[in-house]
Amino acid sequence: MPKGRGLASCPTDPLPPGGGPQLNPFSRDPGDKIEWIKRLDTDREDNDGFVFQVSIGSKQYALKVFKFSHPRLNRFYRDLCLRHPLPLKEGIWYTDPFYAECRAYGRIQEGFESRLVTDQTAVKCYGYLLLNTNDSRWLKKEGIHLEQQLLDRELREALGGDTRVRAIVKQFEKSPRKVDAGNIRRAWRSVYLLNKSLKLYNMDIKADNFIGHKLVDFGTSWTVPHKLLDHLEEVAENMAKAFRSKDTVNFEEMIQDEVIQTRLKVLAKSTHQLRSRGKPEWADRELPKRRRIARK
Ligand SMILES: Nc1ncnc2c1ncn2[C@@H]1O[C@H](COP(=O)(O)OP(=O)(O)OP(=O)(O)O)[C@@H](O)[C@H]1O
Ligand SMILES: [Mg+2]
Repeated sequence: MPKGRGLASCPTDPLPPGGGPQLNPFSRDPGDKIEWIKRLDTDREDNDGFVFQVSIGSKQYALKVFKFSHPRLNRFYRDLCLRHPLPLKEGIWYTDPFYAECRAYGRIQEGFESRLVTDQTAVKCYGYLLLNTNDSRWLKKEGIHLEQQLLDRELREALGGDTRVRAIVKQFEKSPRKVDAGNIRRAWRSVYLLNKSLKLYNMDIKADNFIGHKLVDFGTSWTVPHKLLDHLEEVAENMAKAFRSKDTVNFEEMIQDEVIQTRLKVLAKSTHQLRSRGKPEWADRELPKRRRIARK
């Protein structure tokens, strides 16, 4: 991938606005440009962003670049606001994946500083970055589509007129290890501490969102205080409770999936070794039904 160059932007305020925990801007020298090295994630239709290995000021990082999102396309905002109108400006603070990650990492930082949670529950974050025109142009040239067409007048206003491309700088994990039998207990501890001690609900617990025992993706997370969760508590207490226990349910499902995958691999291997012809014995077995709570 060719290397892109651009001038440094100078963000100063912590984000998101509107109260609750915030993330500080990434601090770099004005001359430090982003050198784009390679994509780290794989293309999916429903992803909230794009993750790159980059170098800034000769240090390597993982940079997650976020798509723009519109609160009106978010089912919680739409449905809950029918009964409790929430201005679009506030809606974006609680539905946008970039703001969700800023708030989550802000809370993790607070927890660390107050020594409430000193475990590494998440991949380290160094702050947010607003990209300059050259970097944004380079992404566009590379075919990275950030849904800028959603930026209508209303959304621009809600974003305070700042429509620069948003990104979060994280530690680059050189050999990202998946959750496995060796780290599953620590992975559960991460989720438990985030939920119980930090009141941070990831809402998208799955193997892809862990690097080893640490969570890496907070794009769908809800961090208390959270306006949508407050609305939910008022209109549907049981549903709010279900959302607060969603991470536990999804963690159990993740373990089941991993166990099933491993068992199937072992079975497939032994079936192959026996050189049995025809359909393997496990092919007709019904897999356990999954309990799911919709993501958006
Ligand atoms: N810090 C990192 N170091 C190495 N690889 C990373 C890092 N962050 C992310 N990745 C890789 O990129 C993948 C996607 O990251 P992430 O889950 O944050 O984004 P996403 O799934 O596109 O976002 P979303 O789920 O919000 O749509 C991860 O599964 C991992 O393989
Ligand atoms: Mg993810």
